[in-house]
Amino acid sequence: MADRDPSTRDEQVILVSNRGPVTFDTDDNGDQVVIPGGGGLVTALSGLVDLTPVVWISAAISDEDTRLQNDAGETTIRLPDIGMRTSGRFVLIDAEVYDRYYNVIANPMLWFIQHYLWNLSRAPDIRQNELDAWELGYLVANQRFAEVVSQELARRPDATVMLHDYHLYTAPGVIRQAHPDAFLHFFVHIPWSQPDYWRVVPNHIREAVLEGLLANDIIAFHTARYARNFLLCCEDLLGLRVDYEQRHVQWQGRDVWVRSYPISVNAPAFETIAASPEVLEEEGPIMRRRRAHLIVRVDRADLSKNAIRGFLAFDVFLDHYPEFAEEITFFALLQPSRQDVPEYVEYLEAIKDVVSHINTKHGNTDWMPIDLRIESNMARAVAAYKHYDVLMVNAIYDGMNLVAKEGPLINERDGVMILSENTGAHEELGSFALSVNPFDIENQAQAIHQALTMPINERRERLEHIKRIVRENDIEKWLSAQQTDIAAKRSHDHGETGG
Ligand code: G6P
Repeated sequence: MADRDPSTRDEQVILVSNRGPVTFDTDDNGDQVVIPGGGGLVTALSGLVDLTPVVWISAAISDEDTRLQNDAGETTIRLPDIGMRTSGRFVLIDAEVYDRYYNVIANPMLWFIQHYLWNLSRAPDIRQNELDAWELGYLVANQRFAEVVSQELARRPDATVMLHDYHLYTAPGVIRQAHPDAFLHFFVHIPWSQPDYWRVVPNHIREAVLEGLLANDIIAFHTARYARNFLLCCEDLLGLRVDYEQRHVQWQGRDVWVRSYPISVNAPAFETIAASPEVLEEEGPIMRRRRAHLIVRVDRADLSKNAIRGFLAFDVFLDHYPEFAEEITFFALLQPSRQDVPEYVEYLEAIKDVVSHINTKHGNTDWMPIDLRIESNMARAVAAYKHYDVLMVNAIYDGMNLVAKEGPLINERDGVMILSENTGAHEELGSFALSVNPFDIENQAQAIHQALTMPINERRERLEHIKRIVRENDIEKWLSAQQTDIAAKRSHDHGETGG
């Protein structure tokens, strides 16, 4: 159960993200149930809160979240089973404001800009609806987040505020006004696109995004490529002088550092989950159903993940190599996502159509080539990771992609990973995966064949390299690299002001 915990004051990290680690609900008997948050950001930050006490500020998503926060007033709530001494605060946002902020601006507008997903000849149309959603949705929701952060900062003035992701670009500017000396750190978990693509967004919006980010002390990305794109935007879109070598930019008399740190998983914790009874239970059915070969993909049903081209590549593979018919299954676990956004609803329908077409074309009464599950089932996903021969990660663009780290870490079959060159994970793991161009279906079909026919020694060697890298560069390293820079930046600023 969640209890009120007004006395907690020792958290020196204030973590802020739209989606929190849990949301609360009630079952038919009126008992409280705890639903873990989904997606890469929560997965990664849950690894962080295992290491350090934090107060985690996130949006109230359910009625129960709202009720709990109303009861707690302006104090924190103890979150069950989440990390060491993690307390939380839910930000209460009016439903209409939230809809404009989340369903019109954050997803799709910003998400699509940062993953290059707009089909520009047809979309987006920026109309009054979108302009209002910015003014009355995004800016207002960010203001609410900033107010709650300010209250927590007043209690812990020396805490580091770590804000996360594209929902919160304008909050830092508001916090900075109230707390000029606060240390603000911002992590962008998705790609940063190049300046010309940002020109799709009206001038006042893109300037507010960039200026909001520049209110931070450090702005962090997963890869050097995204950090560079951000600096290019500062130069091209705001006309600022940028130091690409030192990776900083001057803004309103402050020195802002732009850095990259590849996020990862908590490797030992994830290996423990892989050995848990819930996962072992899921393995039975997967093993019973598996044919000679198993391809796996695990994703949110998001346009950026490129599920359709992955299935089309499998279709082409079966055309080219009919000897694999009935010998192989493509097991795809897609977690429904953002179903209040029309583009996501259409995409999920298109996925189902493609899968049914391929299953009809190649399958028979005894064999269904693609086993598509549209569900959120962590234990099943982990069980599938253990048994794949081929892991398909062919995202169009993806900030990091933690599936590319989780899957190989626990795979037990010398599985080969097919990895899009446009994922953040590719910077670290590309040499040991089969690298693909996510738009090139033929390339992906050949990669499936190459993976399935690769000599066992090579498969094993590639997998072992990936496991080693994931264990070495795990979440602890991600966090400590940031802590080192935060300390360096604090002392740099201190020296500069002569304090
Ligand atoms: C990505 C984003 C996260 C987001 C997650 C799930 O990983 O970077 O910020 O939380 O997707 O999306 P959702 O809209 O369900 O929070």
